[in-house]
Amino acid sequence: MTQTVGVIGLGAMGAPMAENVSAAGYPLIVYNRTSERTEPFADAGHDVADSPAEVAERAGIVIVMVTDDEALEAVLEGDDGVLDGITDGTIFLQMSTVTPAATAAAAEAVQDAGGRYVDAPVSGTVGPAEDGTLTVLAAGPDDLLDEVDRILSAIGEPIVDCGAVGDGTRMKLFVNLLLGDMMSAFAEALAFGTAQGLDDDDMLTVVEAGAVDSPLFSIKGENIAAGDFEPRFPIDLQFKDLRYAVEAANEAGVPLPQTAAARETFSAASGMGHGEEDMAAVVKFFERVAGLSIGERE
Ligand SMILES: NC(=O)c1ccc[n+]([C@@H]2O[C@H](COP(=O)([O-])OP(=O)(O)OC[C@H]3O[C@@H](n4cnc5c(N)ncnc54)[C@H](OP(=O)(O)O)[C@@H]3O)[C@@H](O)[C@H]2O)c1
Repeated sequence: MTQTVGVIGLGAMGAPMAENVSAAGYPLIVYNRTSERTEPFADAGHDVADSPAEVAERAGIVIVMVTDDEALEAVLEGDDGVLDGITDGTIFLQMSTVTPAATAAAAEAVQDAGGRYVDAPVSGTVGPAEDGTLTVLAAGPDDLLDEVDRILSAIGEPIVDCGAVGDGTRMKLFVNLLLGDMMSAFAEALAFGTAQGLDDDDMLTVVEAGAVDSPLFSIKGENIAAGDFEPRFPIDLQFKDLRYAVEAANEAGVPLPQTAAARETFSAASGMGHGEEDMAAVVKFFERVAGLSIGERE
């Protein structure tokens, strides 16, 4: 019999991931802290749990897709948390972006309760989550990764085997460090060019024609020019990931001067009230401090 899969966290990413797991043929049970987000799932005939503990009691595999370290701790160790409902052998598939320290603590807690832990954050954003094409950064024992392979395949492709528990999380911080640094550098360059009177279409053409070409610059360049800051990956989540990367690097004794600067740029953009806008809105920090407007916007 196909195992029931539980999904805790039906945000921008968790909801489409849950839909893809269901489309792959798995019975679904979902939980979300704010109950409104479960309504489309109830309407579609899926089971809705009243707590993370109930998800763990009723599902053999529990996917967690929540904001950060605090949210992971809350759904795992809070009142009626997963640890209260876990049964021997339950697989805990942790896919949120958290710190290596939170991953280690969660894995230990799950294993002490008799569960099995897979560390599998994802790279990609809402579009790939809907299409089932996220890059899955999987880490854990080989036999366990084999056991969850069909579920992970419903969520994304490729599935990269990053190593032992913790290495998926570290890989996620690696790639999002680069993402945040690139976004911040791009916004800074656009501000520089705009301040000198360069045309934004021309700047994008030059970027796309040369060695610095990147899908990130093309997509975000078009979004910025059109004034489209609809959140795909919001500033506050990128800011969190840069904080986590710098923290982990500090512990490892590696300086990250560019990432620390990018983190502060995202911090400023968030402080200016743009935290829920797409990461491309980091450009608004430069616009504000330099008194300029990038693209066709007023
Ligand atoms: N968006 C992206 O492009 C993207 C891409 C890759 C990875 N990620 C990572 O994926 C994770 C989820 O991102 P998202 O974009 O889906 O975020 P989101 O839309 O903000 O959803 C966050 C989810 O976490 C839940 N949550 C937050 N704090 C909680 C708490 N204390 N207790 C219980 N539940 C809590 C929220 O519940 P409520 O509905 O009650 O607030 C919601 O279900 C994050 O770690 C993010 O960094 C995001």
